[in-house]
Order: sequence, then structure tokens, then C-alpha cells
Amino acid sequence: MKTNQTPKVLLVGNSARGHAIAEAIMRSKHNPILFVYMKANNPGIAALAEKVEIGGYDQPGRIAEFAESHDASLAIIDSEEPLCHGVVDALEWIGIPTVGPKQKLAMIETSKGGARLLMAKHHIPGSPKFRIFRTMDGIKDYLKENLPVVLKPDGLTGGKGVMIQGEHFATIAEALKICRDILTKHQAVVIEKKLEGEEFSLQCFCDGRNIVAMPPVQDHKRRLNGDLGLNTGSMGSYSCANHLLPFLTPAELEQAADIVRRTVRALHLETGLFYRGIIYGGFMVTRDGVKLIEFNARFGDPEAINVLALLETDFVDICQAITNGRLHKLPVSFRRLATVVKYVVPFNYGLLKDQRAAEGSDLIKIGNLGKATLYYSSVNHDQAGCHLTSSRAAAVLGTAPGLSEAERIAEKAARAITGAVAHRTDIGTAALIARRVRHMEELNKQK
Ligand code: AMP
Ligand code: GLY
Repeated sequence: MKTNQTPKVLLVGNSARGHAIAEAIMRSKHNPILFVYMKANNPGIAALAEKVEIGGYDQPGRIAEFAESHDASLAIIDSEEPLCHGVVDALEWIGIPTVGPKQKLAMIETSKGGARLLMAKHHIPGSPKFRIFRTMDGIKDYLKENLPVVLKPDGLTGGKGVMIQGEHFATIAEALKICRDILTKHQAVVIEKKLEGEEFSLQCFCDGRNIVAMPPVQDHKRRLNGDLGLNTGSMGSYSCANHLLPFLTPAELEQAADIVRRTVRALHLETGLFYRGIIYGGFMVTRDGVKLIEFNARFGDPEAINVLALLETDFVDICQAITNGRLHKLPVSFRRLATVVKYVVPFNYGLLKDQRAAEGSDLIKIGNLGKATLYYSSVNHDQAGCHLTSSRAAAVLGTAPGLSEAERIAEKAARAITGAVAHRTDIGTAALIARRVRHMEELNKQK
């Protein structure tokens, strides 16, 4: 893209994370024009866009046509669905530099088994003991020797398909039933040793050769306070002003960045392609060091909201450095502030049927959000107001010099969204963070 031209940026995505990306694009000093292709209307993103087209993410040709008709000079992909349908391949085919890996490289997210095999082949540390099964043959014997385990479908499941022994099932018989179910819907099941520790997300900009790590974030996947209930897409996240986490050392953060760096190199060696986009490792600090839980080929949702709000460097410059392979030439910095994101969800979201309350009205009211920023996720607007869908409605972000203030800002805003909604009141609180630190201290005592 020529620097003296107004950037015409295509965003493919409709999530709250996409809303944060759109906002980061529109903060650019280059005064970009934003075009958005999304599968469902996100009013927050639409308000920032020059033009919106609604359509499926399984139509790479249609997305490329939309980009070409608006003379896009840069594209960025928000979520895994368009990546796995080859949207980046289609956009790059017509010469549009795109932030997002090609379909073959997005396999790092779409195939959990493939990611583990790549790491093993290239001697990249950080995997728990694992084995991949395509049929039921041998599963029973393997389970007998490797309990406790985690069972994962080899494919995209929106973060909700992982079954953990001791939480979702107890016995070998139950594990076998789950494996059978997984194999009826997916090509394989990955059986991993269950790890214990504290999780963190490390999102990195990547130009194929270089990575730039963003501040680490802790995500909260469980639906209920105290990390109880089922796994959801996520209920919220926090990051700290010192760009570490209360249970994470600089050396452990570097171990995680090294795993990402080596994986990017391995992807190039295997495919001959350069990974240009965002690569995000979900990690766990355990008593045996840092382990990789999974890779994602995109920003985290909502972790993107935590970090993009802190970005000091022009985001469009970063996108261009990613697509040009010149990330090493661009100093990238983030403000030293704490952030807390809380998701406001339909009350029944992620609850078991017998926990559910009677359906309320689907209309929500957004009151005074104070100092927080609102990011829409899944809502429908009409003359009557703002309606819930079955997914998460919106995220609120609190930013402040300290975590407790950031939490207060986010909590106050989450409470100001009223209707048949719920949120986790404990994310970012001193009590939950103290519990995480104690958990790590107890594990380290067992070393
Ligand atoms: P994933 O979709 O792979 O991120 O997994 C969802 C959640 O399952 C993770 O955030 C972890 O909490 C948990 N999980 C996945 N793999 C393991 C593992 N090997 N040991 C313990 N927990 C795991
Ligand atoms: N925050 C979890 C994810 O984006 O997959």
C-alpha cells in the first residue's frame, strides 16, 4: 500500500473483538476508510464503517468481490471461521495484503491434533503427553495408563468442546462414551494428560519471521463466579499495568513467546508459507514450566479488547508491517495500564437446562456506563430497542492505572446493562487474583 494514499481497510468479522479491531483501525493517523463484511450486524462496528455487507464466512469469492469493488488496500480477519474457509487465500489471490494466515496455516487453530504433531516433529517444548485417535481402537488401554485426561475434538468447536476429567466426566466408561460421540462428529479425538496450573493468553503480531508479543491477559472461560459451570466462549479477562500477570514471571512469559516463535518457524518449514497475522497461544503455567493448551490463528475474544485499548503504536502501521514482513522495523508499544473486560450475557447463556430461569424479555437497556467502553457482540437493534440473541450481548472495558480501579469501572458498567442478563462479578477482583496466586504457590510447593 502506498503511504500517501488513504488506507481502505476491509474488516471481516462481527464480534466484540472485531469491534475493538475496528476501533483500533479508526484511531489511525492515516484516516482510513473502513469496509466491513460480517455475518450478522454488529451495531458498534457498523457505526464506524463506510459500508457494510452482510453474508456468510464460507463465501471467500463473495468477500473478495466486496473487497475489490471497494478498492481495499488492506484486509484484516477477525475470527477463525473465515480463516478456515480460505478467505485470506482469496483476498491475497487478488492482491489485497491481508492480516490473517492462509487456510493451510490456520490449521494451527483448526486442528488441535495437527498443532500437537507439528510441535512434536519440530521438538518444540510445551505439549502435555498426548495421543490422537481416529477410531476407538486402543483408546481404552491408553486411558487406563494415562489418567487423568482431557478429551478434545480435532476441529473447531468455539472453545466449548473440551471435556476435562474430574469436571465433565469421572470414569473410563464415561470417557469412552465421550470419545465415541466425538468420533461420530469429528475426524479424530485428541487425548491429553490433564495439566494443572494457571492459564494465560499470549497474543502476538506475526509477519512470518518475527513476532511481537502483546501484554499477557488472563481469560475466564467458565460461566459462573469462582470458575464454576460450563466453559463458554469467555466471560471476561484482565491484564496488568506491568505487562505481566500476578502469577507469571518474565522468564515464564519468555518461554511462552519462544514456543510461539518456534511454531511460526516450523509452520514455514512445513508449508513454505509465511504466517502473516495474529497468533495467540493459550498457555498454562504449571509446576513443570509453561505448557501450551492451544493455538488460535486470530486475536482472543475478549483478550483483543484488553490489549488493543492499550496500543500506542498506530494499528494500521502494524498491519502494514505484518503484511510487508517488516515487523522488526517497527517499535510497538502498549500503555502501562491495567484493563478488565466483563461480558454481559443472556441470563441462560452457558447454563445447564435445570439451572435456567424463566425466559425474561429479550430487550436490554444500556444505562450510564461511566468511564467504561462498550463493545457490542451479539444484539439486534430495531425501533423497540436492543434485543438479546442466544450469544453474548456486549463486553465492557475498564482501564485504569491499577487493577482494582479498572475492575470497579467494568463492574459498574456491567451492572448498568439491565434486562435478562448476567455477568461474572469476580473477574479482576483482588479475591479471585489472590486465589490464583495461592494456587500457583501451592503447586510450586509440590515441585
Ligand atoms: P481449548 O479449547 O483447547 O482452549 O480448551 C478449553 C479449556 O480446557 C482450556 O482453557 C483449559 O481450561 C482446558 N484444557 C484444555 N486442555 C487442557 C489440558 N491438557 N489440561 C488441563 N486443562 C485443559
Ligand atoms: N478467549 C478465548 C478465545 O478467544 O478463544
